Amino acid sequence: MIEFEGVSKTYPDGTAAVDGLDLRIDSGSLTVFVGPSGCGKTTSMRMINRMVEPTAGRILMDGQDTAQIPTVKLRQSMGYVLQGAGLFPHRTAIDNVATTLRLAGASKADARRRAGDALRLVRLRPELDDRFPSQLSGGQQQRVGVARALVADPPVLLMDEPFSAVDPVVRAELQGELLRLRGTLSQTIVFVTHDIDEALLLGDRIVVFGPGGTVHQCAEPQTILERPADAFVAQMVGRDRGFRALGFHVEDLPVLPLGDPGADGALEVPGGSWRLTVDDAGRPLTWENGVTRTPAGDGHAAGSSLRSALDAALSSPAGTAAVVDDAGRVVGWLQRSAVLTALEAPAGRP
Ligand SMILES: Nc1ncnc2c1ncn2[C@@H]1O[C@H](COP(=O)(O)OP(=O)(O)OP(=O)(O)O)[C@@H](O)[C@H]1O
Ligand SMILES: [Mg+2]
Repeated sequence: MIEFEGVSKTYPDGTAAVDGLDLRIDSGSLTVFVGPSGCGKTTSMRMINRMVEPTAGRILMDGQDTAQIPTVKLRQSMGYVLQGAGLFPHRTAIDNVATTLRLAGASKADARRRAGDALRLVRLRPELDDRFPSQLSGGQQQRVGVARALVADPPVLLMDEPFSAVDPVVRAELQGELLRLRGTLSQTIVFVTHDIDEALLLGDRIVVFGPGGTVHQCAEPQTILERPADAFVAQMVGRDRGFRALGFHVEDLPVLPLGDPGADGALEVPGGSWRLTVDDAGRPLTWENGVTRTPAGDGHAAGSSLRSALDAALSSPAGTAAVVDDAGRVVGWLQRSAVLTALEAPAGRP
């Protein structure tokens, strides 16, 4: 367990980076520090391994004041992953990882074997082991950085925006990997991010930092979403709330029934001049209103995500989406207004 007791940091130039931080990080938990730039997240994290010394208060590690623990010993018990991986540029991937073990006294052969194991754990392909960092993609470099932090199996893992330098697809992959690793590893992890979505996805507990290095809320993700402690937190989770809800699957959108098809098989959209033509199997072809005709997309598959419903409703010129079954056949209508109403439902709905 890591405890912050009234911890403050004022840098020599007078910048108050952290102000009176009280915090308990349980062993084995994944705690996320989230907040806007410059609010003291990195400073708070670095005080844990004494890369930065507090100017007031103390930090306890399993009950012992870290100020009393020699920094070499303290840092051996903590892996550290920094933004952009921070690899040694002139060492290969496997040597980057093995170096940590060599420093801890492992033989060359043992260090190399264990480094290889750690790289497999983060799913770096063996043929990449002997490449230099500049020959690896950003995501691959991050994997090496994570392997390097994990290899000595430290009880505490500090991760400072480890995934921020990679594109959203790779980032989602790395987040998935971290969640998977969490199932097999027992480390206490402190993870810093700007991104509230990343925090909500990964954290057992989330610490929301605000300007001036103060903590606005420290709670489980569900609580942060449902009961933000103040306007600052509410604004943070409130922004993009709709986007967050988009991933949820919705079974209960109000689907309007189809009327009888016209002589040509086309379907009349209720309450307007639009018709949807369908192919022989009943799948959407075109929207038409006697004046214009545009290709229809695939429609919204009943029961899939709100994102799919919104996409179908927004892209339909009729303002109404076609709802389709598993075979892609049109089975009903979904009005744009109904999708927007569903979006306004409270975040955190199933
Ligand atoms: N070595 C330093 N000397 C003086 N001021 C510093 C130093 N390091 C950080 N600061 C200041 O302390 C404040 C907190 O910085 P910190 O790096 O902890 O923020 P952060 O929340 O990690 O920000 P970011 O999200 O941009 O990484 C900022 O105002 C920063 O300019
Ligand atoms: Mg930082």
